[in-house]
Amino acid sequence: MFKKVIFLSVLISFLACNSSLSTKEIENYTVKGKEITEASFLELSNNLMTQMKMGGPSQAISFCNLQAIPITNQLSEKYNVTIKRTSDKIRNLDNKSTQRELQLIDNYKNEIAKNAELKPIVEVDDAKKIHFYAPIIVQAKCLTCHGKLNETVNVQTDSILKSLYPNDKAFGYEEGDLRGIWSITFKN
Ligand code: HEC
Repeated sequence: MFKKVIFLSVLISFLACNSSLSTKEIENYTVKGKEITEASFLELSNNLMTQMKMGGPSQAISFCNLQAIPITNQLSEKYNVTIKRTSDKIRNLDNKSTQRELQLIDNYKNEIAKNAELKPIVEVDDAKKIHFYAPIIVQAKCLTCHGKLNETVNVQTDSILKSLYPNDKAFGYEEGDLRGIWSITFKN
């Protein structure tokens, strides 16, 4: 009997700390999270490409510098969530990671090394806030501003980026690398 009680209480605490969301809730938040991150990616990426065509990297950089955060803030309001892009090698200090985000970035890097499929994550924190996380993978078109100096990043682009972001770490990437993660916090 005593053993049974211990077993049950261990089981209950394991389930409770594992997740207080039902499978259905996790599914729903995954769908919402994907919708929000896909819309945000499209919005940023379309704007960026338009600026690149109009005025090359220098115009696109100044666009990102001034508009990336206002654009994600507008989308945050539209979807009633907080939308953040973060990385273990950040360019903009406003995008700095939390401890949990850094852990998840590490996990995704390990998954990539194992050639495993990268899945989005839904979880609840100690303050009962619901989070959605998903990987951001480097594409060829990102390398103009996030690749290697003198390979895909030219000297002019490098010097503009250095003047705007003296502590910039977001260089040296190759296509397929993990650039960072989307971190969506739902308001509940
Ligand atoms: C024209 C230059 C340029 C291109 C091309 C570019 N970025 Fe960036 N990126 C920036 C700048 C400038 C910032 C910092 C401003 C911001 O977005 O907050 C940034 C920031 C980021 C951040 C936020 C984390 C951080 O380091 O501050 C992510 C994630 C990111 N870029 C991913 C990408 C991806 C993925 C692509 C390709 C689809 C891409 N970028 C293409 C210039 C660029």
